Amino acid sequence: MAITLAFDVYGTLIDTHSVTVALQEYVGEKAADFSRLWREKQLEYSFRRGLMQNYQQFSVCTSQALDYTCLSYKISLSDQDKQKLMEGYRVLPAFPDVKEGLEHVKTEGFRMFAFSNGSADAVEMLLQNAGIRAYFDGVVSVDALKIFKPSPAVYCHFLRSAHSTGAESWMISGNPFDVIGSISAGMRAAWIQRSPETIFDPWEIQPTLILNSLSPLAVQIKNAST
Ligand code: 2OP
Repeated sequence: MAITLAFDVYGTLIDTHSVTVALQEYVGEKAADFSRLWREKQLEYSFRRGLMQNYQQFSVCTSQALDYTCLSYKISLSDQDKQKLMEGYRVLPAFPDVKEGLEHVKTEGFRMFAFSNGSADAVEMLLQNAGIRAYFDGVVSVDALKIFKPSPAVYCHFLRSAHSTGAESWMISGNPFDVIGSISAGMRAAWIQRSPETIFDPWEIQPTLILNSLSPLAVQIKNAST
């Protein structure tokens, strides 16, 4: 059985909170909290646009979430500063364990895809910039369907695009809503708990695997799939 892995991008491979350094220039010691609110609003906006059936690319959710966060913190950014922060979001770095983890997964011969709310262009650029694009057989974006995770339609779109089935595919994600969404749509899923403080939503669906980095992923998926 050819096992296919769908890697979530923002928050799993790519560290969205590395914008904190750039934010310090504008909000000083509140940068980490600002970054958290920005990310929460970005995801909330994607969920709301999905429910409203009023799609705009994920970068629009990111930009409007930045505007909201500035309003909340009562700071006013010049167009240039905003553009600088948005440009920074297009070249965020990978988490430190990612290269080594992907290397192990590749060695095991699993099929590997990046699967994201981000547009294909944005994801290609992020992966290239982080030096990890070569590990992936392809990039699948929700943009083709114009609806966001965790709609079951996007997981189905992934399976079709990757020519795989739910039984043969795993979602690898640091985002609990993505883990729950993919399992609900018939896949298996590993939750990468990127911080010990992150709480997994106490629903009736549990991750198939819980790991705190990508390092043990290859061995764990191999064991769970035999
Ligand atoms: C991604 O799709 C949800 O941010 C997450 O990359």
